[in-house]
Amino acid sequence: MEMNQPVGKTPLDDKADGLVGRPIDRIDGRLKVMGRAPYAYETREVKNPAYGFIVGATIAAGTIRSIDTAAAVKAPGVIHVMTHENVPAQGEKKEQVWPQLTGTNVAFFDQPVAFVVAETFEQARAAAKLVKVAYDVRTPKASLRAALPQAIEPKKVQTDPDSKLGDFDGAFASAPVKLDVEYTTPTQIHAQMEPHATIASWEGDKVVLYTANQMLNRGQKSLASVLKLPVENVRLVSHYIGGGFGSKLQPMPEATLAALASKATGRPVKVALTRQQEFHVATHRTDTIQRIRLASDRDGKLTALSHESWSDTAQGDEFYETSANVTRSLYAAPNRITRHRLAKLDLPIASSMRAPGEAVGMLAFECAMDELAEQIGLDPIELRVRNEPTQDPEKQVPFTVRQLVPCMREGAKLFGWDRRKPAGTTHDGNWMVGMGMSAAARLNPLMPSSASVKLGADGYLTVRMAMTDIGTGTYTILAQIAGEMMGLPIERIRVEIGDTAYPAASGSGGSFGAGSAGSALYVACAALRDKLVAATDLHPDGVVFADGRVTSGNRSEALVDLAGADGVSAEGEIKPGALKEKYSHYSFGAHFAEVGVDRDTGEIRLRRMLGVFTGGRILNAKTARSQAIGGMTFGVGAALMEDAVIDERTATYVNHDLAEYHVPVHADIPAMDAVFLPEVDDKANPLKSKGLGELGICGAGAALANAVYNATGIRIRDYPLTLDKVL
Ligand code: MOS
Repeated sequence: MEMNQPVGKTPLDDKADGLVGRPIDRIDGRLKVMGRAPYAYETREVKNPAYGFIVGATIAAGTIRSIDTAAAVKAPGVIHVMTHENVPAQGEKKEQVWPQLTGTNVAFFDQPVAFVVAETFEQARAAAKLVKVAYDVRTPKASLRAALPQAIEPKKVQTDPDSKLGDFDGAFASAPVKLDVEYTTPTQIHAQMEPHATIASWEGDKVVLYTANQMLNRGQKSLASVLKLPVENVRLVSHYIGGGFGSKLQPMPEATLAALASKATGRPVKVALTRQQEFHVATHRTDTIQRIRLASDRDGKLTALSHESWSDTAQGDEFYETSANVTRSLYAAPNRITRHRLAKLDLPIASSMRAPGEAVGMLAFECAMDELAEQIGLDPIELRVRNEPTQDPEKQVPFTVRQLVPCMREGAKLFGWDRRKPAGTTHDGNWMVGMGMSAAARLNPLMPSSASVKLGADGYLTVRMAMTDIGTGTYTILAQIAGEMMGLPIERIRVEIGDTAYPAASGSGGSFGAGSAGSALYVACAALRDKLVAATDLHPDGVVFADGRVTSGNRSEALVDLAGADGVSAEGEIKPGALKEKYSHYSFGAHFAEVGVDRDTGEIRLRRMLGVFTGGRILNAKTARSQAIGGMTFGVGAALMEDAVIDERTATYVNHDLAEYHVPVHADIPAMDAVFLPEVDDKANPLKSKGLGELGICGAGAALANAVYNATGIRIRDYPLTLDKVL
């Protein structure tokens, strides 16, 4: 189905008490808590794998002068040592999959320079220490600020790096109220629980990778290209994934190395990144410098806005953080500029992390809005209401549904926003207390996806697609959609995902997973319904699928009887159509935070937090809330803790483990709640749902930063907000 038209009444609209939307527990939850859900590294399907260990460069910039593997090759249990001198031939870099060990150039610290394969993990790790590499070293460039003069206009990836409307300079110069501020955000690491891991195994000229990966079909294509294989010769399997947050959108170096080493040795090869390697070998979210200029009349109506963002990545890559993209769609203003610039540094490769663009863009922009409100003496919600656009201000097309104002109003009511006092005036013992808010907005894309369904002779429905579940609840919502469409209880649905042997699917990323894969499944179920009805003499109008039966008027058939001995199958497909361009597709919300700041130590503590969101039709109230709260928790980390500190002398992250790279723990998260306002988005997809996976992080940290200002009267513009910056 091509989404060219708004969707009329669908089977999902019929029952308010249907399976879809209910807060059903994860159907894979029991397996997971019992330790019976095999993650990539634990796969038992591959017999007798050898173990790989990556040797990383100990410099960030320079060339390998010599590499001596003699001692490693002779070490106990060692099967093979792979370097640039003996690595099998590879293709060019494809998307974010880079050929490995390609030469003597070192572009970032811990870049793989050798790969040791041994009988056991310990033997591989011990032998890795014996590989001797001599380098010619260059002084690395690792400071974004120092590189600003050399920053370039990045290549257009999905969107233009720049946008411009009206006459910003003129409007800014003549405005009665203006703000010109700079915010910075640090490098952030995904810090997902499950490290990147792969077991690669060849059969003839075909390779199977059991690998932790969010988007299997994209990964399959990229890997095939780098391994110089036809796409159908590469199979990716990823049944369970311990978090992704963008770090697994593409196969990382361990996957390519495992495939190459397995080919070279004829043995399956198993490898996981160490926690420390996660910081340098896998991708990260780059640091940014953002300049925001706002101009308004005295009533807070914006006349001009500008959002410029600088970010960096490794030499040879083009990824840039699209911090200002969301600003193009947030608030009305006739004169506007957004601009992105990119510096190439001797740092590891940057890529997408949860809500790439919006997450850090809104950390800056939503605080700048707070600053403007303060300057005018206007309530921050009222400022946003006054600049609510009637259509997307830059695309100049309508929004599908935009409930930002209702989210802010409802949140204000539920949070007790009317109790907020002027900055620096509220105390609770030694705590200075403040409230802050922020808008939330995140793109809602639809991605091509397909699915197959089969009603078996046993009365069970099997769903198959190369979709993934990164811990978000995909298994469960797919079962809910199929169950409701076919009128079967959830126990009668088998969801088989995580394998490129199944119909191609969107995978999990960009908040598009549930809507895209779920819609493909919806279309497949609709086709199966038609097939089943056609096999009866029931009149197709007004048929109802419920309780394992299809009924029309007073006549009814059991689905299990219609399945026959061989079962009945159907396929479905979804892809974006003209609606993609005719409307601006966003999910919206509003965050509210109350913080306490210790008067003596500057310690900042979140006291309570609320998010009010709209996500179209909610597919599972429990997993949706978990996504929202998880995103908000990420926002707390971004505001108060997360910071991969760069040692500019060595171009390394100093705090490259979870002991030193801080993310929120339970004790950091007191009362936090997320609620959803009723919504259906009939222009988004046939489910009428919108993306939620990344919405919760967007703006969340800004609500805390604005609360810190309200508590103390101190505006901190460099994230994270740590006590040294308060004092
Ligand atoms: Mo997301 S950063 O597309 O997993």
